[in-house]
Amino acid sequence: MTFEQLRLDGVSRSFGTANALRGLDLAIARGEFVALLGPSGCGKSTALNCLAGLLPLTAGSIWLDDTRIDGQPPEQRGFGMVFQNYALFPHMSVRANVGFGLKMRKVGRAEARRRVDEALRLVQLTEHAAKFPAQLSGGQQQRVAIARAVVLEPPVVLMDEPLSNLDAKLRLEMRMEIRRLHQTLGLTTVYVTHDQEEALSLADRLVVLREGAVQQIGTPEEVYAQPVNSYVASFMGYRNLLDATITGTAGSSITVEGAGVRLTGRGTLTEGPAKVAIRPEDFVVGDGTENALDVTVEIVEYHGRELSVSARLETGVPVYFRTDKRLAPGDTVKIGVPAERVLVFAP
Ligand SMILES: Nc1ncnc2c1ncn2[C@@H]1O[C@H](COP(=O)(O)OP(=O)(O)OP(=O)(O)O)[C@@H](O)[C@H]1O
Ligand SMILES: [Mg+2]
Repeated sequence: MTFEQLRLDGVSRSFGTANALRGLDLAIARGEFVALLGPSGCGKSTALNCLAGLLPLTAGSIWLDDTRIDGQPPEQRGFGMVFQNYALFPHMSVRANVGFGLKMRKVGRAEARRRVDEALRLVQLTEHAAKFPAQLSGGQQQRVAIARAVVLEPPVVLMDEPLSNLDAKLRLEMRMEIRRLHQTLGLTTVYVTHDQEEALSLADRLVVLREGAVQQIGTPEEVYAQPVNSYVASFMGYRNLLDATITGTAGSSITVEGAGVRLTGRGTLTEGPAKVAIRPEDFVVGDGTENALDVTVEIVEYHGRELSVSARLETGVPVYFRTDKRLAPGDTVKIGVPAERVLVFAP
């Protein structure tokens, strides 16, 4: 089945009086990789299950081009699903697991065999075709789940935190694998994760959710460099979030005071209380920097080329920064950050 656009119009879902998803508007183009990103409980799985047809909507509609599909049962939509826990059939071989959907759809034997072989080859499991799920590693099981979803050549593949059960190394490998499959097969993918790095590295566009409501939709570059509020900023690695008050503005340059320090940053606010967001990696250690701060080092974590430092301002407010300088607990140092890297938001 081919289509140009999968569209969600005001898709909402409540459980009793709780709104798990509040009016999600999103148009996904064919071939796009969209990540739904947010912390636990923000409505990611709800959105995905609404798309799959596993959960009815409380309001809104879902469209594939001009066809309204939110009334259709999951099998009629025919979207591929990859769940967090793989959901493989334990009593079936890898080959049978991957071929199950084709059998259900009464695809001929020769054709089914060809497609299963191809799917197994894509996920590099050809040699394991006769094994049972319990004989596979977590990553291999996850690849079976992915092969099972893509073998049906679905118009859309939905993935719910597919890598969260894997160890760090395998997660990186599978991440690339998923992106590679998406590209080679020309899939349209909606991918749920709470991991900003995963979302940034995989997706063409991110949808950041908070308590069921969209905070920001944009390319990884947009969301990373221009988060729209302090919530998105904190999710995008702006680990320093200081409470401050605006004391002056000049164009988009804003001066704030808080935590006993004065900083210059950028934003659109003109007065009142503010939240200042700075990434640890945007600080530089040394004299003569913009926005100079005196801090006392408390904890130093080793990260290969860099140290991750937890320090405090004189007022006791914590500040996190990264540096390749060798610092030790108790050191007092000056750190600074360019004003263009200091984002000022409404609190
Ligand atoms: N079947 C249900 N009955 C009642 N409330 C539910 C149900 N499913 C989800 N919720 C609630 O809806 C909200 C969103 O849940 P959802 O599973 O979509 O979150 P999530 O973003 O996928 O979280 P996680 O990252 O933990 O998987 C939560 O507050 C949750 O408690
Ligand atoms: Mg979930």
